[in-house]
Amino acid sequence: MNIKIFKNTDDIGKVAAMMFSTQVISKPNSILGLATGSTPIPTYKAMQKNYDEGLVDFSQVTTFNLDEYIGLSHSHNQSYYYFMQENLFRGINVKEENIHVPSGTSEDTDKIGCEYDAMIEASGGVDIQILGIGQNGHIAFNEPCDEFPMGTHKVTLTENTIEANARFFETKDEVPKFAITMGIGTIMKAKKIVIIATGENKADAVYGMVKGEIKPQMPASILQLHPDVTVLCDESAAKRIL
Ligand code: GLP
Repeated sequence: MNIKIFKNTDDIGKVAAMMFSTQVISKPNSILGLATGSTPIPTYKAMQKNYDEGLVDFSQVTTFNLDEYIGLSHSHNQSYYYFMQENLFRGINVKEENIHVPSGTSEDTDKIGCEYDAMIEASGGVDIQILGIGQNGHIAFNEPCDEFPMGTHKVTLTENTIEANARFFETKDEVPKFAITMGIGTIMKAKKIVIIATGENKADAVYGMVKGEIKPQMPASILQLHPDVTVLCDESAAKRIL
């Protein structure tokens, strides 16, 4: 793992955005794996700036998002589709038909999951994937469990995740209890992974990811086995690995 520690979180966004922009400049029809959460917002802002300044053109890229809440339609203001429109897509020139976010409203999640993985595969696979990390070490919505899940699948969110994400909803009861997420197997197929962690509440997860035993109870620890992972952290998130 290539670990980089920063004093300033805006610098993390700039570096991550530059990694994405460099990828798109070198391969205009790149396949981008995208994430939600507060962590990637500075990266998305910096990507929009790179676009505004004419550094990069996203017109040929295809995007696949990691996950979506079950039960929220695309137009719901807490759906991950909506988040992506607000925080990235409407500020760059990605084509609507090239945007993919798993459907949170389909009845047959097994079918949707298989189709999503097949679409990623058919596109040639994700060239660069951005990830955040949950306080419990989850990546996308792959929660701590007994076996690393392979493909895109339905998950039951843990109490810890529901509590962490309640800040985006009026009440904790409104947080969906289920989600559909790329599996660990899907994520590990990405050619390049950039994972960002900021804030002291991520310090234990960062320790588990970088120095802990590789086990499904700490989902991010699997990234130790990926050949091209860059970890971008601020000093608070990195405090247990310094
Ligand atoms: C959510 C998302 C993850 C994200 C994580 C951390 O549950 N499904 O993809 O990495 O939580 O979010 P944040 O960046 O807001 O701390």
